[in-house]
Amino acid sequence: MKTMGNLIIDHATVVTPCGHSACKGVAMADLTTIKDGCVIVRDGMIEHVGPSVDAQEQKSEARSHGFTYMDAGGCALLPGFVDSHTHLIFGGFRPDEFEWRLKGDTYMSIMERGGGIQSTVNATRATSEDELVNRAQWFLDRMSAMGVTTVEAKSGYGLNTETEEKMLRAIRRLADKERQPIRIVSTFLGAHAVPKEYAGHTDEYVDLIINEMLPRFKGMTDCCDIFCEKNVFEIEESRRLLKAAKEMGYKLKLHADEIVQLGGAELAAELGALSADHLLHVSDAGVEAMAEAGVVATLLPLTAFTLKEPYAPARKFIDAGGAVALATDLNPGSCFSGSIPLSIALACIYMNMSVEETITALTLNGAAAIGKADEIGSIEKGKRGDFVMLNTDNINILPYYVGMNCVKTTIFGGRVVCENP
Ligand code: NIG
Ligand code: FE
Repeated sequence: MKTMGNLIIDHATVVTPCGHSACKGVAMADLTTIKDGCVIVRDGMIEHVGPSVDAQEQKSEARSHGFTYMDAGGCALLPGFVDSHTHLIFGGFRPDEFEWRLKGDTYMSIMERGGGIQSTVNATRATSEDELVNRAQWFLDRMSAMGVTTVEAKSGYGLNTETEEKMLRAIRRLADKERQPIRIVSTFLGAHAVPKEYAGHTDEYVDLIINEMLPRFKGMTDCCDIFCEKNVFEIEESRRLLKAAKEMGYKLKLHADEIVQLGGAELAAELGALSADHLLHVSDAGVEAMAEAGVVATLLPLTAFTLKEPYAPARKFIDAGGAVALATDLNPGSCFSGSIPLSIALACIYMNMSVEETITALTLNGAAAIGKADEIGSIEKGKRGDFVMLNTDNINILPYYVGMNCVKTTIFGGRVVCENP
């Protein structure tokens, strides 16, 4: 964000959704394509988009001011990918839990035994802020190579005021880092689990979040999330916390209907959340309510894959006229993967999304899921100059490369931040 570039990308196959809010229903598949396109970025912002032949004047003006010139050779140019749901900051790792699950343990049974999220909480409390920053940078550099230009990062492994604040500070330091190749937005997830100190006293922990954490973190982040789940934060507890957050001006997100069907989708619609995420077990009424209320359904196929759960019903959301976003859910427990290529392949193969729909889901709708669709998510004049260039003109390469990377170049704010060999 610090050093914004001046760039001409010429002879690109520009492929993009359009608009300043989420694309819904059939519109998700409606991409604009410019065959031999030219995009000009000034000070990190898109100044011109159109056919190359019509841009002769703009190109020579920009060249005369020393803009970098890049010949895309026909390759597809998409908006930079938005990974709108990650748990990027955490201490420790949980490979043994993964192996227990292979042997038949369930995600919730491990959590109920004091493992799961609580074990990452113990590790995160014991990890210094510097170390959290360094560990997260490792993931960010790899995400950039997969075309990600914006990432959402949640707190939620502190579960006390001190460590939640340490996580939010780590996220801010990463976001402010000179030459960081990715825009980073934060979400407060103090309600990720009930910490061991409050076991059996969920209401008291919700009080602590409402009375101490939410007011204190207001200047550090403007999104609030919750793990709304049976035996974690039930519907009434979630409603109480989210209503308080909304009154303080937070935008809302929910982990909803991930493990069982609880009604989190309906709650997200009732409260006008930005997004409800996971939704593996969403009810039909929840799908309708979210579509009606314009809540983005953020679907996380890597988590369903890793937990061996049924995939979220993407088609139901789209057919109901709703907006679907795709994200990775990178975290040390339920889904230790930030693979954009595998997310796309799973979405196309198992969730029956079209290639065009996955592009919209990973760009404009991801941007809408974090409240940034007016700024990023499409290749349009006035938006940020964030792009991903594929190694071919054919967007069908995206799911075809199963778990392999077809990104040639990642461009952030008009600067080339990654070139894959
Ligand atoms: O989105 N379900 C809750 N939170 C994460 C997993 C966190 C963890 O297991 O550490 C999720 O799946
Ligand atoms: Fe999550």
